[in-house]
Amino acid sequence: MALTRNFLLFCSLLPFFILPSLSKTSFRPKALVLPVSKDASSLQYVALINQRTPLVPVKLTLDLGGQFQWVDCDEGYVSSSYKPVRCGSAQCELARSKSCITECYASPRPGCNNNTCAVLPENTVTRTGTSGEVGQDVVSIQSTDGSNPGRAVSVSKLIFACGGSLEGLASGVKGMAGFGRTKISLPSQFSAAFSFDRKFAICLTSSSSNAKGVVFFGDGPYVLLPGIDVSRSLIYTPLILNRVSTASVYYTGEPSSDYFIGVKSIKINGKAVPLNRSLLSIDRIEGTGGTKISTVIPYTAMETSIYRAVTATFVKALAKVPRVASVAPFGACFNSTNIGSTRVGPAVPQIDLVLQNSAVFWTIFGANSMVQVKSDVLCLGFVDGGLNPRTSIVIGGYQLEDNLLQFDLATSRLGFSSSLLFSRTTCANFNFTSNKA
Ligand SMILES: *[C@@H]1O[C@H](CO)[C@@H](O)[C@H](O)[C@H]1NC(C)=O
Ligand SMILES: *[C@@H]1O[C@H](CO)[C@@H](O)[C@H](O)[C@H]1NC(C)=O
Ligand SMILES: *[C@@H]1O[C@H](CO)[C@@H](O)[C@H](O)[C@H]1NC(C)=O
Ligand SMILES: *[C@@H]1O[C@H](CO)[C@@H](O)[C@H](O)[C@H]1NC(C)=O
Repeated sequence: MALTRNFLLFCSLLPFFILPSLSKTSFRPKALVLPVSKDASSLQYVALINQRTPLVPVKLTLDLGGQFQWVDCDEGYVSSSYKPVRCGSAQCELARSKSCITECYASPRPGCNNNTCAVLPENTVTRTGTSGEVGQDVVSIQSTDGSNPGRAVSVSKLIFACGGSLEGLASGVKGMAGFGRTKISLPSQFSAAFSFDRKFAICLTSSSSNAKGVVFFGDGPYVLLPGIDVSRSLIYTPLILNRVSTASVYYTGEPSSDYFIGVKSIKINGKAVPLNRSLLSIDRIEGTGGTKISTVIPYTAMETSIYRAVTATFVKALAKVPRVASVAPFGACFNSTNIGSTRVGPAVPQIDLVLQNSAVFWTIFGANSMVQVKSDVLCLGFVDGGLNPRTSIVIGGYQLEDNLLQFDLATSRLGFSSSLLFSRTTCANFNFTSNKA
């Protein structure tokens, strides 16, 4: 497919709130809910979104820091309600597009239209960026009162990108659902469409059987069986904006759409791990360093010196337990017959990510730190992120499971629950039985 791309100059200041339009129904939901399952082989978290006309369920890999939803439209995208976004339009501006597909030399279809706004959909699993057409289509999603799903509501013109590479994504997946810090990420568009709080929460399940974790768009309550409102017991820390994009392909001057938090130190069993502090802050010019949260890497990755220090301190704190040969990709493995178990997983030293002050920390207990690789082997579930990674610490999926994380975009604040196992519930405990009258 030959694309001619012209760079456009946007000189008109279009009104900022040309938003996906509401469906005709007068019912205005306060929050929405989306089931998310864990794919056993790729370890990705997969959401099912109903889109197009007629509606079809589309599997998308959840990408917390992703800029927008993208779908591979070459894979049989059929919809009577699909509309390409024209170059220079308000929607094109909202998408921060810097280029225009003037001509597509094939018969018109979603993903191939003339004079269409273009963006760079990124497969953040393989870190490949491609070009894609910006389009709009209907999305239907269930509303919620926080305890059960309610009636379905729709957004008639949800903005997304038609394009992208599916390589490395879970089987059956057609694209990625971007939840990042942009105006066209799914949380931003849902909040705008229904005028509810610019907040969303993710609660990823550790189970890859039939269990489903949950994503809430909007404010709490976020109720998990047996009737626990997790939104009431969150700890808060500021979300930090990295002014330099962390995407694989981007235009100069674009900020990162990833969610960063300010980890100041790491403690294991209350003892500080010796670290090079400068790696923990974000370099203002290069945008390197710092700590971000990701749903597309299965295990937390740490810059080599941090990884080594954390592993060494952890091994020392667990010295009573015999180490066994490492099992890749992990570096520190133990004979689990010598490790007891607790409500929050294997009885191992707790790891605290210390945040804005010494009284605020994210504790990682055994259920989120230890990975069972064989019946008698448990490994510390962190991986070596290499010598010069873009971001020093990337908190990955395993460390997020059965923890609820609320992202408040208006106040730029993260609320986190720590392990829900303490409260005797899990992320698979949302009651997905609809209670619509
Ligand atoms: C785009 O315009 C060119 C030239 O006018 C035409 O040949 C082509 O078929 C058009 N493509 C689409 C997808 O409409
Ligand atoms: C700490 O990290 C910074 C940033 O990577 C590096 O420039 C510096 O040399 C490191 N300091 C030590 C003592 O390793
Ligand atoms: C773990 O310890 C048990 C009991 O001492 C032993 O039988 C088993 O072989 C050990 N496993 C490994 C992987 O070392
Ligand atoms: C789940 O919700 C349905 C609908 O409100 C309700 O009938 C059912 O009792 C709930 N399940 C549990 C386990 O509470």
